Amino acid sequence: MSSIYNCTGHELKIPDIVDSDGAWLIDRSGKRYLDLESGVWCTPLGHKNQSVNKAITRQIASISHVGFCYSNEVVEKAGEAVISITDFFGGQCVFLCSGSEAIELARQMSKHLTNKPTTLCLHDAYLGSFSSTISRDSGWAIFDWNECATCPKRQTCDIECPKLKAVPDDIAEFVFEPGSSGGFVRFPPVALIKNIAEIVQSQGGKVIVNDVTTGMGRTGEWFGYNHYQIEPDFVAIGKGLGNGYPVSALAINRKAVSQLKSGTFKYMQSHQNDPLGAAVALEVISQITRENLIDRAANLGRTFLKELQSLGDDTVPDLIG
Ligand SMILES: Cc1ncc(COP(=O)(O)O)c(C=O)c1O
Repeated sequence: MSSIYNCTGHELKIPDIVDSDGAWLIDRSGKRYLDLESGVWCTPLGHKNQSVNKAITRQIASISHVGFCYSNEVVEKAGEAVISITDFFGGQCVFLCSGSEAIELARQMSKHLTNKPTTLCLHDAYLGSFSSTISRDSGWAIFDWNECATCPKRQTCDIECPKLKAVPDDIAEFVFEPGSSGGFVRFPPVALIKNIAEIVQSQGGKVIVNDVTTGMGRTGEWFGYNHYQIEPDFVAIGKGLGNGYPVSALAINRKAVSQLKSGTFKYMQSHQNDPLGAAVALEVISQITRENLIDRAANLGRTFLKELQSLGDDTVPDLIG
């Protein structure tokens, strides 16, 4: 019997993976499996990536963990890299260990800054594994965008639409997950998201983008939200940022940083801003940039979509509705 309790609801299919090579997993007998999901969408640069492994070895040879009361050069550099790819100039960032943590921190900050009680999200948004986002019975407003996907006005999205008019005015944060990972990875219409974000921000709420899955170049832009005409206050980044190493980041825009600094907000956890995670994040961002992998993802995505559409299946949509 395994010593590991499997609470995922998924069966362990291939029990004995012992090695890896780019997009391939290798079992003890040497059999190779193409890892189409890159783990849990975590390894955009491939398994056993040599540059990432070297960055890890270099960093652990000096220091892995310092505690959140100390500063470190690699953490500063990685923070600058995150600020640069999010275009949050004048903003700042916090490194954590998982996507769920980055979303949790953003929501705590939003609640603190707005003093409002409610979180707004789309009906099919997955926002992490914490009970604070899984149980949505109270303190949540859920926007069902099913009708909007086929609405004849979806290109412009009428601001007078009753669905938009029903957005409450006590929203602390709209947490927007660009491709609904729990809902067939569909991208909601640009005009709809722009309108919701504008309504929330004009009423004093914040916009948090959950780019844990869609970030790090996967959609042919650095982030999923780059396909939308919105200016988020926070961007939660995870998965691909560590290429398999557990590091995540919350990018905070300039305005929210300055509001937070004039308040009393506090949050700390053991591995916040660890140099080891930061070194990995820095190398992943550098490699994506160096090797022009975002253009590659855009080109491959276009080819893949064209081929799917040529199969004559009219359920294959354009990327963003
Ligand atoms: C869209 C999305 N958000 C958040 C998370 C949570 O990230 P993590 O599992 O790293 O906590 C996931 C993980 O699957 C995800 O797909």
